[in-house]
Amino acid sequence: MKSLSVKEFFQPRRLGHVNLWVSDLQKSERFYNEVCGLTVEFTEPGLVATFLGTGHTPHDLGMIEKTDGKPRYGRDGLLQLPPGIGFAAGLNHLAWELENEAALVRAFKALKSNSIEVDMTVDHQVAHSVYMTDPDKNVVEFYCDTVRDWRKVLKGSMDLITSEWDPLSAEGFTDGRYDTSPEIRIVSEAPIHPQRITHAVLETLNVSKLVKFYTSVGGLNVVDELLDGDIVLLGASHNAYQYSLAICKGSSAGYHHASFELNGESALDAAENSINAMGIKIEARINAPWKRSFFLKDPDGMLSEYYVSRPNLRLFEEIKKISSLPHPYLI
Ligand SMILES: [Fe+2]
Repeated sequence: MKSLSVKEFFQPRRLGHVNLWVSDLQKSERFYNEVCGLTVEFTEPGLVATFLGTGHTPHDLGMIEKTDGKPRYGRDGLLQLPPGIGFAAGLNHLAWELENEAALVRAFKALKSNSIEVDMTVDHQVAHSVYMTDPDKNVVEFYCDTVRDWRKVLKGSMDLITSEWDPLSAEGFTDGRYDTSPEIRIVSEAPIHPQRITHAVLETLNVSKLVKFYTSVGGLNVVDELLDGDIVLLGASHNAYQYSLAICKGSSAGYHHASFELNGESALDAAENSINAMGIKIEARINAPWKRSFFLKDPDGMLSEYYVSRPNLRLFEEIKKISSLPHPYLI
């Protein structure tokens, strides 16, 4: 890789969504809707996919039923899920929201001129996207919204959505088409009422290599480094999000969890009480000076966290010395 200038590449506003491979779409959809309280915004039966959210973006969480390596096609015959992927439940991709199409196209061109490969560029009808792979083979999507009122386009059961997009012949609009006053939806009968996805946590064998990718190509900035650099917190430009990605040294590489913020400690208490009353197992509880949270496992064993933040992240170092929980739970 040639030397990179951060300014030339992607400069995300925030983590837009996480997309998971799941073993049984119906089962996972029900879990994230009925237990975790995410609204089903739309489904795409042709792709065997469901998209759920809080309203901040077209979805906070997407899920596609695993393909067992068989290709799936999008609109106009686009090879959307190529053969050789989707064998097992796990992370499909992390998606980063950009300011506008001009910024997305500018970054795409800069990658090309630095001979950095991208996997795919697509039109999702409400977004244009560039997909690529990080050094740990996690897939990363960088996108811009193309339709502010996305709920007018995406609702219910949809035909195939995604087709080809050529960044080199794009309009390159410069206005931000993300929703600045989104209608937040909760699932009233669910025990948890998340307000938004805020960050994801990745484990890696090589923290500095992954941080280099996400700060150069990914355009994130280092918010904090903890435990002598074993944990690095990365932020995007939207100042209502403390950090958007945590990279933790682990014994293997991959996705650990995504975190959803709740509206205050009383909402967290109510959620925890309801989860207990339903007999659902809480995998871990954290009560620390920087956050209070609980973790659930989905039908495939993937973790998600429901939390409220507290002011004092600097006490992390001290607490970690007396905690036996692995790093990714603590951040
Ligand atoms: Fe996505």
